[in-house]
Amino acid sequence: MTCLSGNNCMVKHTAVMGVQWGDEGKGKIVDALSPEHDVVVRYCGGANAGHTVVVNGAKFALHLVPSGVLRSGKVCVLANGMVVDPDALAQEIFMLAENYGLIYVSDRAHVVLQRHKDEDAAEEQKTSIGTTKKGIGPCYRDKIYRKGLRFCDDWKNHFNLHTQHYVGSLITDTRKLLQEFLDANKKILFEGGQGALLDIDHGTYPYVTSSSTGVGGIYTGTGICPKELKVIGVMKAYTTRVGGGPFPTEQLLSVGNYLREKGKEFGTTTGRPRRCGWFDGVSAKYAVQVNGVDEIALTKLDVLSGLDEILACTSYDVRESITSYKIVKTINDSIPANVVDFASITPHYLAVEGWKKDISKVRCVEDLPKQARHYIEVLETLVDRPITYVGVGQEREQLIRRS
Ligand code: IMP
Repeated sequence: MTCLSGNNCMVKHTAVMGVQWGDEGKGKIVDALSPEHDVVVRYCGGANAGHTVVVNGAKFALHLVPSGVLRSGKVCVLANGMVVDPDALAQEIFMLAENYGLIYVSDRAHVVLQRHKDEDAAEEQKTSIGTTKKGIGPCYRDKIYRKGLRFCDDWKNHFNLHTQHYVGSLITDTRKLLQEFLDANKKILFEGGQGALLDIDHGTYPYVTSSSTGVGGIYTGTGICPKELKVIGVMKAYTTRVGGGPFPTEQLLSVGNYLREKGKEFGTTTGRPRRCGWFDGVSAKYAVQVNGVDEIALTKLDVLSGLDEILACTSYDVRESITSYKIVKTINDSIPANVVDFASITPHYLAVEGWKKDISKVRCVEDLPKQARHYIEVLETLVDRPITYVGVGQEREQLIRRS
């Protein structure tokens, strides 16, 4: 291959991002891939994220610090595209105790202030977005409106000495730092926040978060341009969503309750019960296309064990209007731009046979029941990408490599 990109063309960097509505299990995949990388970077969002990593039975719920922090020797970067609540970051670093290495925060990242959180909570009374109330929207609004406060500004006098102490020493020019890593052929892992369908541009607007959660966010959110990037899309074997907005495959009765209880589908950040439903191959394929996903990490397949039958959505019938039954088209790789149109689509499903065996102890794909292997193949066909990892439980070891 001809090198057009300067000195980092031989190094393949990795991006891990959700291709649903968040909570896909990105933390587990980032944790698994961290040993092969030198640096782990978050480039979007803030403390609205909740990445859970379980190490030897100990559960770490991370909101701001990249999940790679739990692998010793990794450099973790909170880059300029993030909005960072210094109090929350100080608490997280305190919680990690001795379990963390080098953490850096961009001097260009925007600071979430108490007034942002207050405003977010007050707005939530009036809308049905269902935000995490972490001040994300108001802080990004101030950024776009050019009146935000950054870590290169006089942020300290808004916070107590404890926070100033924990966070103050981490602030640096992370763009320059990351460029130096690129130039030294170090491998960088980009950890997406939320999910592709919550992206401000490509998600189910206005039921989205306020940042660019996808691949585009990597470039603006870090200030570096990795030329060789492998994108791993993370998706659950079913679908969940927190907060408001369209969710065509949502199951409000027994299946939804089963998935919620068995999958422990309660928000890491807010504790809210997540809405649950069947796998949606249409929105996932759309998200895969938008982000140039190369391969898929499928998580929580174990949650489906015990079901007699499993459904996967293969296409949507788009109706003329919410009050009309006239079908104007059938789609399988995009989502309607307008949420009212989206809410009125009719999903079509493929039903596959379930399996009874507990698969949480399975470590190679051949040992999975044939029905589970078939389901994986169905999902691969729907999103048109290979599934290379399969998660069968929360623990680090409960991940099958499938090539
Ligand atoms: P915000 O990001 O707190 O402004 O919330 C906007 C929307 O994104 C709400 O529907 C939230 O529930 C959703 N959201 C934000 N962060 C996450 C996440 O990490 N996982 C799942 N949903 C999220």
